[in-house]
Amino acid sequence: MRLIFTDNYKMLSLRAARYLAGQIELKPDCNLGLPTGSTPLGMYDVLVRLHQEEGLSLAEVSTFNLDEYQGLGRDHPRSYYNYMKENLFQHVDIKEENINFFDGTAEDIEQECHRFENKIAASGGIDLMILGIGRNGHIGFNEPAEELRSHSHLTELAEETIKANQRFFQEEEEVPGQALTMGMGTILKSDRILLLASGQSKAWAVKELMKKRVSPRFPASFLRVHPRVTLLIDQEAADKI
Ligand code: GLP
Repeated sequence: MRLIFTDNYKMLSLRAARYLAGQIELKPDCNLGLPTGSTPLGMYDVLVRLHQEEGLSLAEVSTFNLDEYQGLGRDHPRSYYNYMKENLFQHVDIKEENINFFDGTAEDIEQECHRFENKIAASGGIDLMILGIGRNGHIGFNEPAEELRSHSHLTELAEETIKANQRFFQEEEEVPGQALTMGMGTILKSDRILLLASGQSKAWAVKELMKKRVSPRFPASFLRVHPRVTLLIDQEAADKI
């Protein structure tokens, strides 16, 4: 695992966006795996700027988002699809047909997960997967458990994750308790992985990740078996290592 330290969140966002832009320049029709949450917001901001001011084009890029809340449709304000639309897609030249998402409202969830897995495979696999990390070490919505599912699946959110994600919802709204997520196996099939961690609240998870052990009790530890993972962190997240 390669480590890149940055001073603060701003520098991390800049570095992450440059990394992603580098991938697009290298292969304009690349397949990107993308995360949501607070961490990548700065990176998406910089990407939009690179598109608007420096001519970075996403016209040939295909994207595959990591996860989606179960029961939330594309037009739901709190769906991850809507998050991506607001923070990236509507500001760049990506083609609608190249955006791939789980359908949180699919009736047959198993079939939906198959469809998504098949689409990734048929597109030639993910070239670069960008990830955030949960405070408890979750990746996507692969929560700490006795065992993990390797492929895309429906999963229960951990209590801690529901609490952490409440900030994205209005007070009276409930965070959905279930989500569709890529499995750790889906993620590990990516050619390269860039994991972002920022802030004090991620310091424990980063410390755990440094231990050279792999356990479903800490899903992010599975990234240790991948040969091309870069961990990009800021000073606060590096506090405990
Ligand atoms: C969420 C998402 C993850 C994300 C993680 C960290 O629950 N499902 O994909 O990486 O939690 O989010 P944040 O960056 O907001 O801390």
